[in-house]
Amino acid sequence: MATDLLPTYLHDYLDSLVPPRAPELQAMEAYAKQVNFPIIGPASGQLCYQVARMIGARRVFELGSGYGYSTAWFARAVQENGGGTVHHVVWDEELSRKARGHLGALGFEGMVEYHVAEAVETLRATPGPFDLIFNDIDKHAYPESLPVIAEKLRPGGVLIIDNMLWHGAIFDEGDHTLNTEGVREFTRRITNDVGWAASLIPVRDGLIIAYKK
Ligand SMILES: C[S@@+](CC[C@H](N)C(=O)[O-])C[C@H]1O[C@@H](n2cnc3c(N)ncnc32)[C@H](O)[C@@H]1O
Repeated sequence: MATDLLPTYLHDYLDSLVPPRAPELQAMEAYAKQVNFPIIGPASGQLCYQVARMIGARRVFELGSGYGYSTAWFARAVQENGGGTVHHVVWDEELSRKARGHLGALGFEGMVEYHVAEAVETLRATPGPFDLIFNDIDKHAYPESLPVIAEKLRPGGVLIIDNMLWHGAIFDEGDHTLNTEGVREFTRRITNDVGWAASLIPVRDGLIIAYKK
């Protein structure tokens, strides 16, 4: 049953509400369409940017960064918040190289720290605390990432985690694949933990936005 839950016209409408983007960011969106790379897209990007602005985030850690599209939204927020650092982590050297090019062209040179490594281990090894952590790694690894994220996020910090609707697969009772179970288990844990206030926002493929008390 892994299929898009929202009708195309609704996705298009939400994306149409996002203000015009820099040509470099638009090129990154076009490339994702062309090669079918799963970026968060404009509506989720705008939401990430907005949350980062709302909490004045200046220390952001991203797990599973791709070629830097989601990073660009956080970097813009951090820049407008007065400057700071966004950690870009992906285990693919080529994606990291591409991200350096795009984020440099967008004017975020010097604000992004690049790590070519496994993301949860990198977070564990990086001194915190962070104002905002964004998680978009392989979905089966979501549950095991939660204690590390909880340890590294400051009280009052925010976790944003993508694909929490997992294209509807979570509703398929016959789907017990590792990624689907990872999304279900992570959702159970964070929504039942009194240390977090979490909501699932059904933009694109569903973002959980969680406040660490
Ligand atoms: C969904 S894509 C990232 C998209 C990106 N957040 C964006 O919106 O622009 C996830 C990327 O992280 C990589 N990845 C997945 N799990 C990872 C992990 N545990 N550690 C490091 N990289 C990981 C994947 O290979 C892929 O390149």
